[in-house]
Amino acid sequence: MKNYRIAPSILSADFARLGEEVKNVIQAGADWIHFDVMDNHYVPNLTFGPMICSALKPHAKKPDGTPVPIDVHLMVQPVDALAASFADAGASLISFHPEASGHVHRSVQAIKSKGCQAGVVFNPATPLDVLDWVIDDIDLILIMSVNPGFGGQSFIDSALRKIEQARKRIEASGKDIRLEVDGGIKTDNIARVASAGADTFVAGSAIFGNPDYKAVIDSMRSALAG
Ligand code: DX5
Ligand code: ZN
Repeated sequence: MKNYRIAPSILSADFARLGEEVKNVIQAGADWIHFDVMDNHYVPNLTFGPMICSALKPHAKKPDGTPVPIDVHLMVQPVDALAASFADAGASLISFHPEASGHVHRSVQAIKSKGCQAGVVFNPATPLDVLDWVIDDIDLILIMSVNPGFGGQSFIDSALRKIEQARKRIEASGKDIRLEVDGGIKTDNIARVASAGADTFVAGSAIFGNPDYKAVIDSMRSALAG
C-alpha cells in the first residue's frame, strides 16, 4: 500500500477536552494532527492560535513517545507573523492560502527558515497556477474540497480533477511533495480521492463525529487498501 497519511482535524473534536482528544485520536491511529486556524477575517469563523498549539504539543505523541506531526492549516490574513508563531509553538508543517499572502514566495521561505515544512492551499475555485513559481520550494500541496471555514460540509466533486492536475505537477517536478485533501472526506469517498492522486487525508467530522475513532480510521485504511 502507498504511504498514506490520515490527519484528523481537531476542529471537530471536543474543545473542552482537547488534550485528551489529541491523545485518543493518536491512539486510534492518526498519523498527523490537523490544526485548523481561522481568524474571522480570511474566513468567517474563529478557532485557536499558537498558545493552544503549544499546549497541545506535549500530547502529540504516540504511546511509545514518537512525536506525531502537527499539521497547521492557516486560514488567516496576513500570514507571515502567525506562521512564525506557530513554528515556535511546535508546528511541523505549516500551510497557507496564497490569496492571503502578499508575497507567496516570501511566506514559503519564512516558514522554511523556521525549520518547518511549507505547504500551499488551494480553495475550490483557485487554479493551481502559483505552483509554477513555488513548486521547487514546497513540501506539501493542500487541495480544499470544501470552501474553508467550517467542518462538516460536503465534498465538492470538482476537487478530484484538481487533485489529478496537482499529482501531474508533482510528478513533473520530480520532488517528494505530499498531496493532501481537506473537506468532506469520509470512508465512502476516500478511495476515489486516493485514485485521483492524493496521499494525505484530512477528516474532521467523519472521525470525531463517531464515538469509535479507531473504527473510522481503520475503515478508511481498509478503503485505501481496497
Ligand atoms: C475547513 C477545514 C477542514 C475541516 C474538515 O475549513 O480546513 O480541515 O475541519 O472537516 P470535515 O472533515 O468535517 O469536512
Ligand atoms: Zn483544514
